[in-house]
Amino acid sequence: RPPNLFCFQSIDKDLAPNLRKYVLEQQNEALKRHEVFRVAVSGGSLPATLATALLAPSSGAEDDKVEFPKWEIFYADERCVPLDHDDSNHKLVKENLLDKIPADMGQPKVYPIDEAHLDDVQEMADQYEKTLVSIFAARDSVKLPLFDLILLGCGPDGHTCSLFPDHPLLRESDAWVLSISDSPKPPPKRITLSLPVVVHGVKIAFVATGGGKASVLKKIFETEEGSKLPCGLVNAGGGEKVSWFCDAPALEGVNFP
Ligand code: 6PG
Repeated sequence: RPPNLFCFQSIDKDLAPNLRKYVLEQQNEALKRHEVFRVAVSGGSLPATLATALLAPSSGAEDDKVEFPKWEIFYADERCVPLDHDDSNHKLVKENLLDKIPADMGQPKVYPIDEAHLDDVQEMADQYEKTLVSIFAARDSVKLPLFDLILLGCGPDGHTCSLFPDHPLLRESDAWVLSISDSPKPPPKRITLSLPVVVHGVKIAFVATGGGKASVLKKIFETEEGSKLPCGLVNAGGGEKVSWFCDAPALEGVNFP
């Protein structure tokens, strides 16, 4: 098994505690670099798993403290719906994580989409890109935003963020944030970080659990075809950068070279 691929028994028992350790390592490294921790998160099952990891009690060790007030949370992808809509990734993050953070821990700074542009998905993407520019390129002109950590899910078809297999958006190399109006997974209108932005992240972690992921993970780790799926393209960043947090059902039948 590649060194960056972790297989756990269950989310509660060992996946979440190990994800916590990994996220806090990235937090602590980022805080040494620039006193802020910039994270991009996806939707799907990730916010709930992340909440299980981060809301667990601290061991009290110096390196086991979640410093939420130093976090800046962005969305790796978001659906073009109001922030209180059931399809909203922000709503998922808010209900699973933000609303449950004990008051004495403080809150992260969160960058949701601007609801003023719900009727124009391209404008929504442009606006979110402007937000990223104001944070990541405030002083210098930078080619790409540099997230300290990007937390991703893996769809059963191999999509990640809202980058879908064989979609022309995969070839976009200029914009930081892209709009999509024909997402094969509903809802159709979404915005997403571009592939170059995702692969540029300091660290990238996939969380993939459940038997529904086994066939796509087999493809990604075993086949040439799988290496061209969006998750495979991100995985090409290599073990130094990319980690996979999976459970046993997700890795059932996967063989490693
Ligand atoms: C979205 C997600 C998407 C998700 C995958 C995996 O908003 O649709 O960001 O990329 O992460 O579809 O979802 P699960 O973890 O629920 O399988």
